[in-house]
Amino acid sequence: MRTAVNPLTRLPERWEPLARRSVDLLREHQDARGAWPASPAFAPYGYSWFRDGSFIAEGASAAGLQAEADAFHAWCAAVLERERPAVDRVLAMLEASERPDDADYLPARYRLDGTRQVDDWWNFQVDGYGTWLWALERHLARTGASAHVYAAAIETAVRYLVATGLATCRDWWEENRDHTHVATLAGVAAGLFAAVRLTPLPRDLTLSAVEVADRAVDLIRTRGTRDGHLVKWLDGADVDASLVSVAALYDVLPLDDPLVTATVSEVEERLVDGGVHRYEADTFYGGGQWPVLASLLAIHWSRSGAPQRAAELLDWVATSADHHLLLPEQLPPLLAPDVLDEWLERWGPPAHPLLWSHGMFLAAACTTVG
Ligand code: BGC
Repeated sequence: MRTAVNPLTRLPERWEPLARRSVDLLREHQDARGAWPASPAFAPYGYSWFRDGSFIAEGASAAGLQAEADAFHAWCAAVLERERPAVDRVLAMLEASERPDDADYLPARYRLDGTRQVDDWWNFQVDGYGTWLWALERHLARTGASAHVYAAAIETAVRYLVATGLATCRDWWEENRDHTHVATLAGVAAGLFAAVRLTPLPRDLTLSAVEVADRAVDLIRTRGTRDGHLVKWLDGADVDASLVSVAALYDVLPLDDPLVTATVSEVEERLVDGGVHRYEADTFYGGGQWPVLASLLAIHWSRSGAPQRAAELLDWVATSADHHLLLPEQLPPLLAPDVLDEWLERWGPPAHPLLWSHGMFLAAACTTVG
């Protein structure tokens, strides 16, 4: 195993307390079996999402928490191996031109013991499985460990994504079931490209994986754009801050592609007000600003040679922590303040801390120091 210099020691001093607190929180709240709850203090988020967890694992891995990232990836692999019969069933239905119910597909989140939570959550989202493959490749590249032990799980994830990755499903925000989302397509493509680099797969599966990944990128470039920038879903018009991930995280378009630079300008212009909103029509908890998205945008600027802008965004994230250095899911100003009470009555105050906020801060802060 490679031993690297602890990246946290190279961070600007003003980010160090939050970075250290984030590391402690990720350690403290990781379940013994490897899963991270989305939030340890907000009942609806007491589950482990493949999306949140994979981004948390990326932050953990970047910050030197190799054993913790290993444990999460092993947990994901165990989940996927257990889910293999469900994947076989979905594939058989699709092959027979039957329409699976959303509950037939793999869920977005699991209980911490890796079993499914059966309820009416908006579960059908495939980006998490692509994001897992993407994060796994990055983690193994850092540690120098082999992908061998993950081979069966990688193959299951690839078979699933090849069959489902270009269809409609819910987006990063668990909304808009009937669209094909650009950030999701990017996660699918990045995951499939990572998988074929990670492990030898049966030849026909490798070919299908590359074909679906290429098709996803092609769809992004064609039907995923309008007026020269990316849009939230195919043939749509709206901008969503998750689009920054297409280049900044998933690398399926170059950072300096005109589509990417125009998208980031749209996000900066329409969604940034110190922090970053998800999208203009957001009403969830009144539509606040998300530390996860400020960190994501910081990764874009840091990797694009604009460290000053990256630092401004990370300074905003640091000041959005409370006096215990805990980061929330979102915070004011709100886009739709009238809708806040509805959510407060339904679920109580929003998630705080959100482990994804801490994981993404670590990922972004580490990006700024290489
Ligand atoms: C967000 C998702 C997230 C989940 C758990 C939802 O409200 O929209 O992106 O995966 O919470 O954090």
